[in-house]
Amino acid sequence: MSTIFYGGLITPTSLTAYRALPRALLAVSRETGNIEWVEDDVPADELQDVLARHGLVSEGVDIVELKLGEFLMPGFIDTHIHASQVPNIGSGQQHELLDWLSEVTFPMEARFADPTFAKRAYTAIIKRTIDYGSTTCCYYGTLHSQGTKILADVIHNYGQRAFVGKCNMDRNSPDYYIEPSPEASIAATRDIIAHIRSLPPAQGTIEPLVRPILTPRFAISCTSELLSELGKLASSDPSLAIQTHISENESEVVFTKQLFPAPSLPSPPRGETLKGKTHDTTYAGVYDAFGLLRENTILAHAVHLEEAEVDIIKARRAGVSHCPTSNFNLRSGCARIGMLLDRGVKVGLGTDVSGGFSPSILTAVQHASMASKVVAMRASSPPPHTQFTDRQLPVPTLLYLATLGGAEVCDLQSRIGSLAPGKAFDALVVSIRSDAGNPAVWGADLDEELGVRGSGGEPGDEGGRGKTDVEELEGLLERFLFCGDDRNVRRVYVQGKLIGGKEFKA
Ligand code: GUN
Ligand code: FE
Repeated sequence: MSTIFYGGLITPTSLTAYRALPRALLAVSRETGNIEWVEDDVPADELQDVLARHGLVSEGVDIVELKLGEFLMPGFIDTHIHASQVPNIGSGQQHELLDWLSEVTFPMEARFADPTFAKRAYTAIIKRTIDYGSTTCCYYGTLHSQGTKILADVIHNYGQRAFVGKCNMDRNSPDYYIEPSPEASIAATRDIIAHIRSLPPAQGTIEPLVRPILTPRFAISCTSELLSELGKLASSDPSLAIQTHISENESEVVFTKQLFPAPSLPSPPRGETLKGKTHDTTYAGVYDAFGLLRENTILAHAVHLEEAEVDIIKARRAGVSHCPTSNFNLRSGCARIGMLLDRGVKVGLGTDVSGGFSPSILTAVQHASMASKVVAMRASSPPPHTQFTDRQLPVPTLLYLATLGGAEVCDLQSRIGSLAPGKAFDALVVSIRSDAGNPAVWGADLDEELGVRGSGGEPGDEGGRGKTDVEELEGLLERFLFCGDDRNVRRVYVQGKLIGGKEFKA
């Protein structure tokens, strides 16, 4: 049995291109939740013929017909979010990173020692990220094993795809919020990994939706002994993902180098050196020395990277989570994402709540655009023979970062990030219509009523009529990315299952 969607469809294909299909037909298997097939351009009067060609007669299929102004697109992938900080959104905007951690963040995270608090808070928190359209999130819990198990259970029950990690932190943290030893931290980490791996897979699939992820909070909060044990755990289990922070704030970078002087670092685990640079102390070099950089490592921020670090990150095929809302809010700086893309580093977007004040990847898209414009304005001129460096990121690139780029960062690009046959149906039905109720978005229905924009006129007509259907759909995507919010996210699907959105009733 299949569910069929008919209408506008947008899906990324590369860093510079996406497909906008105004009359797409997409079939999802109700058994597996995977996309079975996509037909690019099906006129309404050929719908039944095309279905018949796929062996479907209309009685046996469930057809979702999208309205004017609606389209399907892949769900957003939030590659960096602290679930336990959502209650702090909008608090403590005056601080930079290290003060913000001690003044605002650690006190809130400590509350999650109480399982009743954790259950109530996480139940409200996860619902929000889903309704904003994040079909996959890379979550930091807190240092508590029990509270983080509750987080994983809540996500599992909602049906969101996620990575969930318990923070490792055995130094430079307050007395009330620190792990007593590396051994205790590792034991709690093994415990949470076992718990998450015991959760049953989603109905009809063999793959788990919630996966464990090692989460050394950042180098500053971990002793060498702890990083070393985490590196051993990682090397014994290549499928285990890793997430941490890197080079977010200048004071943080200075402190990290003081804590890990070059002679204190172990040999590179794979006996490799990169042009002899691996053993200068750099922030990335610290993680690399402990075997924590690999293709399923997610590095949040990467604002102040040195040249040598870009080489290491690229060579290890680790990914960067770009968190521009947070980088503006905590005055951390503007990451040079265009440069990283030109160097072949994988990049996705992160909300970094509550360093970032919005749980929406749409806000991260808007700020990624602004951050790239700041970088471009600061540079005298972009270097020749580069595509993205010191230039503003165009819409196709922003869409890619929010979807397929995020999937690459999670090392899940074969399963999610675009709407293609064989992939999981992790998707949004977006509405750019007045009845969505978002006053910032000009509805396609009003365009039609007033005769502005809209296809069918002559090129050069006043108001922009004369656009093709494809250009019209591209315009709706741009309006959604720059002006949309949760009111424009009508339905949210993960692995074929409707789990949220404005229209969803549990
Ligand atoms: N570095 C270490 N912990 C954190 C955190 O919770 N948020 C951010 N933005 N950076 C960090
Ligand atoms: Fe963070």
